[in-house]
Amino acid sequence: MRVPIVVDRGSDVPLHRQIYEGWRDGILARRFRGGDKVPSTRELAGALGLSRATVTAAYEQLSAEGYFETMHGAGTFVCRELPDDAPTVGRKALRPAFRAAPVALSRFGQRLGTAYAPQPSGTGLIDLSRFGPDLETFPLRLWRRLLVRHLRDAQPPLFAHGGDAGGYMPLRRQIAAYLARSRAVHCDADQVIVVNGSQQALDISMRLLVDTGDEVALEDPGYPGARQLALAHGARVQPVRVTSDGLHLADLRGSPRLVHVTPSHQFPKGASMSLARRLELLEWARRRGTVIIEDDYDSEYRYSGPPLPALQGLADGVPVVYVGTFSNVMFRGIRIGYVVVPRELVAPFTRAKWLADRQSPLLDQAALAVFMGEGHLERHVRRMRRLYRSRREALVGALERHLGDDAVVHGDAAGMHALVGFRVADVRERARRHAVRMTSADPYYLSGRSPNEFILGFAAIDERTIVEGVKRLALRVS
Ligand SMILES: Cc1ncc(COP(=O)(O)O)c(C=O)c1O
Repeated sequence: MRVPIVVDRGSDVPLHRQIYEGWRDGILARRFRGGDKVPSTRELAGALGLSRATVTAAYEQLSAEGYFETMHGAGTFVCRELPDDAPTVGRKALRPAFRAAPVALSRFGQRLGTAYAPQPSGTGLIDLSRFGPDLETFPLRLWRRLLVRHLRDAQPPLFAHGGDAGGYMPLRRQIAAYLARSRAVHCDADQVIVVNGSQQALDISMRLLVDTGDEVALEDPGYPGARQLALAHGARVQPVRVTSDGLHLADLRGSPRLVHVTPSHQFPKGASMSLARRLELLEWARRRGTVIIEDDYDSEYRYSGPPLPALQGLADGVPVVYVGTFSNVMFRGIRIGYVVVPRELVAPFTRAKWLADRQSPLLDQAALAVFMGEGHLERHVRRMRRLYRSRREALVGALERHLGDDAVVHGDAAGMHALVGFRVADVRERARRHAVRMTSADPYYLSGRSPNEFILGFAAIDERTIVEGVKRLALRVS
């Protein structure tokens, strides 16, 4: 039995009185609620190591004052109504002890950005604000089967906690081989660390590399998850504009500790960083001693031509932390990502992961290793590439047809979202009136303002809905 109250044998207050006050104060402070079952006098006496008579004396007083009620055959309960003469003095006196004192946040806590707020959905609403993958086409049955198989066959070590904080080695081997095949990333499996989504990779990277006041260069517009982290860690953020072939290197100043880039498909503008720009960036970082975080969040999805090799594979001695995720190729809730770190960062990264949350869940990692090893992941990616390409074409085609020059689609044919600039001043109002939800690009700019740009997701939305959404945006408001 969990002991609900404590007594102090060294106190001058008699034990029955302590028991009485323990219950009464807990009821007044609403720690115990009306209807809660109360342990029997025998149980409580046993748990506290007291005589039953002591507990009975306290219970009798509590019942007499209306804090407890006894139902014959069922036991004793906290009364649903507080007694009319519950001591107001007592209540007042108790309040300060139970009122939540303001909790002082650390500097990190104070610097956290606005909280995530899920948006309500409405009927008839066309939601173009979802940039995630299509869940309906994910082979969930197969995934369930793999999970169940692992639950059934898993040996005790898979249920144990410990081992390597860097992750389940068979999965790390699969990831290293996959990245070598698909992204020209050069690494051994022990440089791959499995994390809870790429957001954790960014967080740990900043913990390890950024001190308060350090400079961090970020794409502008860029990924708010990286900016919020940099600010929370006390970095001074250096905005770097983005052109049609990636990061505008001329904007880089001084020697930032690190630069966060999305070279495969700039988030959110959609440009792919040219090879020349990649080599220039690496050379620049080599001279400054800046660490590059290469955030390859959706590189699997390119719809024209092969992807350029990852910066990591071209780095040749420049420290590149390569970050990837299964959230975008599988499903958002999987929360498994990975980071490929330079050799010298393997030990600190693994220690930081261990301190943060020990390790990512092993059973999921084991199932994922098989999913990859049996070729399901790459098969799924190939299927999704075809599907998402046609959804993107539907979006771009509809924008051309219905809005013409009033909508400009930025970026390459890639990814799961497109950044669209509207030359219609009242597009926000049109979206609101005609029930289309879109994500404004405003918060993705460091200034907090975009030139009337919106991020439109297309991967998880069927073509008819996409076209209908765009048609609505073309409708005038009055
Ligand atoms: C650029 C970028 N980096 C990182 C992430 C975080 O991904 P995860 O879900 O793996 O934490 C996202 C999410 O979509 C993203 O767009």
